[in-house]
Amino acid sequence: MQNKVNFKGRNLLSVMDLSTEEMEYLIDLAADLKNRKKSGIEHKLCKGKNIVLLFEKTSTRTRCAFEVASYDLGMNVTYLDPQSSQMGKKESIEDTARVLGRMYDAIEYRGFEQTIVEMLAKCSGVPVFNGLTNESHPTQILADFLTIKEKLGSLAGKNFVFYGDARYNMGNSLMVGCAKVGMNFTACSNRKYFPDSVLVSKCQDIAKSNGCSIRFEEDPMKASKGADVIYTDVWVSMGESESAWKERISDLSPYQVTSDIMANASKNVIFMHCLPSFHDLNTTIGADIHKKFGLKEMEVTDEVFRSPQSVVFDEAENRMHTIKAVIAASLADEIAG
Ligand code: CP
Ligand code: NVA
Repeated sequence: MQNKVNFKGRNLLSVMDLSTEEMEYLIDLAADLKNRKKSGIEHKLCKGKNIVLLFEKTSTRTRCAFEVASYDLGMNVTYLDPQSSQMGKKESIEDTARVLGRMYDAIEYRGFEQTIVEMLAKCSGVPVFNGLTNESHPTQILADFLTIKEKLGSLAGKNFVFYGDARYNMGNSLMVGCAKVGMNFTACSNRKYFPDSVLVSKCQDIAKSNGCSIRFEEDPMKASKGADVIYTDVWVSMGESESAWKERISDLSPYQVTSDIMANASKNVIFMHCLPSFHDLNTTIGADIHKKFGLKEMEVTDEVFRSPQSVVFDEAENRMHTIKAVIAASLADEIAG
């Protein structure tokens, strides 16, 4: 495939850092690498390079996606969790970045403030990839958009509706991503959970130049009319206080994705969720919330989650292919297939 975009040596810290062309390039490269993997074509595009994965919050998908992608690329991987590194407790972010930059070709970071991942990028001298911060989850957006492209054929002009807590990492990043690729974005929630107004106004400018819109809606049925993609995320995110549940349940229950909401959307609508999801009682948190508040399912009903319209596991698989594309585009000398 043609390398129109030069992503060599680049960080991926937030979706805002990517141009429209770069997003399209990374999504297309991911599709190409997915095809190569499905056809059994080995490439080891980053053979012998080393990556360190720093996780200050827990993960299933992101960690596994970075590990498998790195192995497929011929790389070596070190995983560090909060207990097994000095970062933050005995050593500053700046010093940690300088040490890791001497040993590794790239760093992945999952944790708290966006300023931490920015500091790692500034001080390490090697590419840094954001595996989720409070504000942003850029690798998830690439996986989501690859999935939409696979299922619906294209991105520009599609109607994307996000239900629930739109003021955190997923709502923010999806709004920016939609504006960049020309998808109409609607945040449907209680107005307390709309994204930050400064970010909204930046996104409205980007959307305008890409011929799409950013909308806010408090009525769940009005929002789903004509929707091609219905997306939701957990109501309380990692790192937030457990005491937030009571208020979130009361504020966000009207925005639970139900089969009525799905039935009101476009004929070919798909349901998406970054996962993990509280759609049944088979988790300790889900069971605890049931005991305290009586809810059997939260941001999405079990019926919608398990319906044929739900593409959540394709989305999860695509985390690996898109993360592989980001690493390869940033580190490989040659990626042509
Ligand atoms: N979607 C996502 O980032 O999943 P993990 O928290 O399991 O990495
Ligand atoms: N908003 C969620 C996303 C998980 C992928 C969280 O931060 O926990």
